[in-house]
Amino acid sequence: MALYKLLRPLIHALDAETAHRATIAALGLLPPRALPQFAPSLASDIAGLAFPSPVGLAAGFDKDGEVPDAMLGLGFGFVEIGTITPRPQQGNPRPRLFRLVEDQAVINRLGFNNRGQAAALDRLGRRKRRGVVGVNIGANKDSADRIADYVTGVAAMAPVADYLAVNISSPNTPGLRNLQAGGELVELLGAISAARAAGGPPIFLKVAPDLERGDHERIVRAAIDAKIDALIVANTTVSRPPLLSRHGRESGGLSGAPLKPLALDALRLFRSASGGELPLIAVGGIASADDAWARIVAGASLVQLYSGLVYHGPGLARRIADGLAQRLEQRGMSSIAEAMGSG
Ligand SMILES: Cc1cc2nc3c(=O)[nH]c(=O)nc-3n(C[C@H](O)[C@H](O)[C@H](O)COP(=O)(O)O)c2cc1C
Repeated sequence: MALYKLLRPLIHALDAETAHRATIAALGLLPPRALPQFAPSLASDIAGLAFPSPVGLAAGFDKDGEVPDAMLGLGFGFVEIGTITPRPQQGNPRPRLFRLVEDQAVINRLGFNNRGQAAALDRLGRRKRRGVVGVNIGANKDSADRIADYVTGVAAMAPVADYLAVNISSPNTPGLRNLQAGGELVELLGAISAARAAGGPPIFLKVAPDLERGDHERIVRAAIDAKIDALIVANTTVSRPPLLSRHGRESGGLSGAPLKPLALDALRLFRSASGGELPLIAVGGIASADDAWARIVAGASLVQLYSGLVYHGPGLARRIADGLAQRLEQRGMSSIAEAMGSG
C-alpha cells in the first residue's frame, strides 16, 4: 500500500484509459510467480470448483485475458476475464472511462471493447492452466441475433474456461439488458443449456443492480430451471446516487463506493428469492474486509471487485482475504461456508 500511495498520483495523472493500458502492460512484464497461499479457512467449493480464497477479480479489468496469472499472483482467489464477444469490436468513442475521485467511483461506457473470441482462445489456450480463471461472454453490438452470440460464446470459450459468466447486464450495449426480461431470459437460458456440453464448465449469470420488484424471484426461477450454477450480483448501475465529482453526469455504468448499498440490497433480494438454493457472487463497491464480510454474511459465497483497485492498489485482494480469515478466527468459525448467510 505504501508503494501504491507513492505511485498513485503518477498513475492518476494519466487519463483513466491510458493508465489502465499502462497497468496491463506493466503486469504483463511481471515474472511468473507461484500461486499465493491462503488460510485454509478461506477455501471453498462452489459449483464444483475449488476456490482458495473467496476474493476474485471482477470482469472488465482484463478484458482480453492478457494477465490472468499476474492477477492470481497478486492475491486474487479467482480471476474473471472478459467481456469477450464473438467478433472483435472497438467499443464506444473515447473518452469513455472516468475516475470520480471524490466519490471513490468509476463511470465507464467502454461498450465491450475487446479483441474477440479467436484471439482470447489462442491466448488462453497457450497458458498453463492453474488457479480459477472464468471467462465472461457477451454479444456484439451489431449482432443480428444476440442469443446466438451467447451460444457461440459458450461453445467456443468452454475449453479454456474454469467457468463461464453470461453477461446480460452491461448498460453500454444498447438493449442488452432486455435479455433479463421474462420471455427473453427464458429463451436465452434455454439456448445456453442446449449448447452446454456435458462435463463443460459451470455457467454463472451476471445481473444488473437496477431491477424492479418481482424481477429477483423471476430471474432466480429461470436460472434454477435452466441449471445455471450461480448468479453474479451485480454489474454497474445506470442510476446516479448523489455524486460530488465533476464527472458524475457522464453516461455509462457507475461502480465503486456509491454502488455499494445498491449492490448489497440487490444481493439481499436475490438471497431471499433463492433461499440459498443458488450460490451468489457479490460484486459492487467492495473495498475492504468489512465490505466483503457484509456480503458473505448476507448470503454471498464469493465476492469480486474492480473499482477498489483504482483507489486502494493491487494489494487489496490479499488484504481483504487476510481480513476475512481473521474475522472467521475471531468468531470461532472454520470456513467461509459457515459464515455465509449467517447475518
Ligand atoms: C472500467 C470497467 C469495465 C467493466 N467492464 C465489464 C465487462 O466487460 N463485463 C462485465 O461483466 N462487467 C464489467 N464491469 C463491471 C464490473 O465487473 C463490476 O460488476 C462493477 O464494476 C462493480 O464492481 P466494483 O464496484 O468493484 O467495480 C466493468 C467495470 C468497470 C469499472
